[in-house]
Amino acid sequence: MSKRTKIKALLESEQTHIEVTVKGWIRTFRNNQFIALNDGSTNNNIQIVVDFENTDPTLLKRLTTGAAISVVGELVASLGKGQKVEVKASQIEILGDSDPEKYPLQPKKHSLEFLREIAHLRFRTNTFGAIFRVRNTLSYAIHTFFQDRGFVYLHTPIITASDAEGAGETFHVTNFDLVNPPKTETGEIDFKQDFFGRATNLTVSGQLEGELGAMALSDIYTFGPTFRAENSNTTRHLAEFWMIEPEMAFYDLVDNMDLAEALLKFVIKEALAKNADDLEFLSQRLAEEEKQKPQNERSDLSLIDKLQFCLDNDFQRLTYTEAIEILKESTPNKKKKFQYPIEGWGTDLQSEHERYLVEKHFKKPVILTDYPKQIKAFYMRQNDDEQTVRAMDILFPGIGEIVGGSQREERLEKLEQRMDEMGIPKEELWWYLDTRRFGACPHAGFGLGFERLVLFVTGMGNIRDVIPFPRFPKNAEF
Ligand code: 4AD
Ligand code: MG
Repeated sequence: MSKRTKIKALLESEQTHIEVTVKGWIRTFRNNQFIALNDGSTNNNIQIVVDFENTDPTLLKRLTTGAAISVVGELVASLGKGQKVEVKASQIEILGDSDPEKYPLQPKKHSLEFLREIAHLRFRTNTFGAIFRVRNTLSYAIHTFFQDRGFVYLHTPIITASDAEGAGETFHVTNFDLVNPPKTETGEIDFKQDFFGRATNLTVSGQLEGELGAMALSDIYTFGPTFRAENSNTTRHLAEFWMIEPEMAFYDLVDNMDLAEALLKFVIKEALAKNADDLEFLSQRLAEEEKQKPQNERSDLSLIDKLQFCLDNDFQRLTYTEAIEILKESTPNKKKKFQYPIEGWGTDLQSEHERYLVEKHFKKPVILTDYPKQIKAFYMRQNDDEQTVRAMDILFPGIGEIVGGSQREERLEKLEQRMDEMGIPKEELWWYLDTRRFGACPHAGFGLGFERLVLFVTGMGNIRDVIPFPRFPKNAEF
């Protein structure tokens, strides 16, 4: 193992006057004397003090922003403000030069749009370092939460032949020569001759396979990539995103909501505990950004307060029907301020409506339940009113929908009838229907959009900035 000590450990060190080896990338070099060095272990840099009078001038010239170096020196208490310790260098080695004329990252503020174009380098900024450390913590915390509760991590397939959500937003997977695919006698593309002997696509959700697992293992969860070819160029949608989908046997909708709320609170708490520096940095970043906004659009809470607030308050639970009543009577609706006015019962809520409920009306996370069946997927459990289904969406401030889930329809007849009504091919989902034939039981589950969670916790404004290499319409660089 390398003798190198990571910067996070050095900055926390109680011991000084010891020799250390530190490696990282130069953020800045000022007065020919002070290097701010970062290695990604923390948002904070360590200061390297260079004895410039006794250092080869050609080496000094190569200490440029972006260069990778290895330093041996003494860890000493710092005289300067802003840091407890620093390293008095006795030996500096350049591992990789970085031409300051060409290096795209200058020691100044770059716009997020510009950084998106150089996503291969943006990890080296304070903002993206913080985001991806927080993302890592959240990801680990999700596993911890489920593992501590005896859930089985199930790997559901990436390539499938089904469209779980029935929304037709799948990416095709094929081995065909696209210019000249084999055709049937009637002139259609003959998928029987394709790699899998049928038409296949990238998964939009692991839920259906997850349910199969839950019907034997009781509690399972997936955590994997999902793909949707929805052409929505928004700050909340990606074509490739990660989803966490737990599925629990013998759970009803209330159990499902309780679990989702506990999960969200647990992972937020973990991020606050493990990424205090990063969240402090992101909180300040957001505060700066908010200053550019008009007074009435600014949030009264800092990022950290917002996260804490989420932990301290029960999520507001109400039905879709109750929400529609509130929205109908709301000031923006009466003053015709909504782009999509609330006219009646039955249509899907737009993000402006969700945000009104969460940010203006309840001022806390909201769980909406019992949506009209025509706007929800075929597998949701039908209520006795024959109008609504046992669905739940969790809505978060600044985000809108972060979780979508439901109690599942376990009654074969009802499920088949709904599939017929919605034109879902029953033959293709014979295996799914089998679970309703053999030992069916009440069960429920939900999907948490991982990037939407990271968006919320980091306070960033665009989902493209919380995944390393975003995939969205007309973009698959890197
Ligand atoms: O509401 P959705 O479509 O639900 C499902 O896929 C169910 N099969 C989940 C289940 O019950 N097991 O998606 C779930 C969540 C959304 O609430 C949202 O957070 C996220 O996935 N999501 C997206 N995130 C980023 N980009 C997109 N295009 C997303 N589409 C959904
Ligand atoms: Mg949804």
